[in-house]
Amino acid sequence: MSLLEVLSKPFPLISAPLAGLSDLPFRLINRQFGCRYAFLEMIHARSLTYENIKTLDLLRTEEADMPLGLQLLGDEGPFLKVAIELLEKNKYKHDVLDFNAACPIRKITCKGEGAALLKNRRKLSGLIKILVKNSKVPVTVKMRLGWEDTVKAVDIASSIQDAGAQVVFVHGRTKLQGYSGDIDYAAIRKIKKKLTIPVVASGNILDPFLAKKMFEQTGCDGILIARGGLGNPWIFKQISEFLLNGKVVASPTVNEIARIMKIHLQLYMGHYGQRRGLWNFRKFFVWYTRGMNNIKQLRCRVMHVSSESDMLLVIEDFKQIASSN
Ligand SMILES: Cc1cc2nc3c(=O)[nH]c(=O)nc-3n(C[C@H](O)[C@H](O)[C@H](O)COP(=O)(O)O)c2cc1C
Repeated sequence: MSLLEVLSKPFPLISAPLAGLSDLPFRLINRQFGCRYAFLEMIHARSLTYENIKTLDLLRTEEADMPLGLQLLGDEGPFLKVAIELLEKNKYKHDVLDFNAACPIRKITCKGEGAALLKNRRKLSGLIKILVKNSKVPVTVKMRLGWEDTVKAVDIASSIQDAGAQVVFVHGRTKLQGYSGDIDYAAIRKIKKKLTIPVVASGNILDPFLAKKMFEQTGCDGILIARGGLGNPWIFKQISEFLLNGKVVASPTVNEIARIMKIHLQLYMGHYGQRRGLWNFRKFFVWYTRGMNNIKQLRCRVMHVSSESDMLLVIEDFKQIASSN
């Protein structure tokens, strides 16, 4: 099923691109809980063209990880073109090519990339046209509502559509807001009203109620689950059940959380090898145990774990502690 087909179903839930986080293990876990579409980690067009092993590793996928979107970052047309050629030559399995006009990080925006493109609509349009002309798969764009205010949000979204994008993903904050502050639902709604292509909304989708609010207040065609899914793959099922059937799904039991942690750990070690797998899993342990009492000591212990068996012991101890919460 392609992204456009996913978006034609009721209440599509998409796993957001998350640099450094939305790797294959993360996506596979989310897909077990009803995530119908996911994004690879963002890839810089220029680094892709250098065919650096670390960059190519971000593209690792498998059959169970479909359908899948790939997001490119950059502001140089020739590199975007070569990046597409390389992706097509190697038959990568993404069915959508997304372009990042949303990343607020200074080391990216100071080069004119990511959210900086929101300040230069002509350049943004030109880059999208290059992507559309060269890509065999549909091009989509992820934008924010603006740099410091939302005055131009509709104009930016319209020029993205006019340049040939087939879907727009809108993070309902400005660049200046970074990752905090209120979501401007009204601004997303204005974009949805103006555009004819699907609009997928992002921002603060942390539970089923906020998901419902996003659909109701913006009229969007789908939503992106981002930070709400960290250590919480159950959110996909909870939101689906709530929106489709009005059911409130109970929070996962301690045993269920431990079961998924173990699967996540195995996937990580299989993907990255033991050392890096354990290292990467530590932050997820913190997310899986978010909001729980008496867990501080265990979180400190997890930072010093150096073997799989020690990590499994930490998870067993987590079961004991969390059950007595
Ligand atoms: C750690 C982190 C990494 C992110 N990486 C990307 C990225 O590579 N590309 C992108 O378009 N958005 C990225 N985002 C933005 C998210 O996709 C999402 O739009 C944003 O976090 C708002 O949703 P939330 O408030 O539900 O987290 C990232 C966000 C976070 C927190």
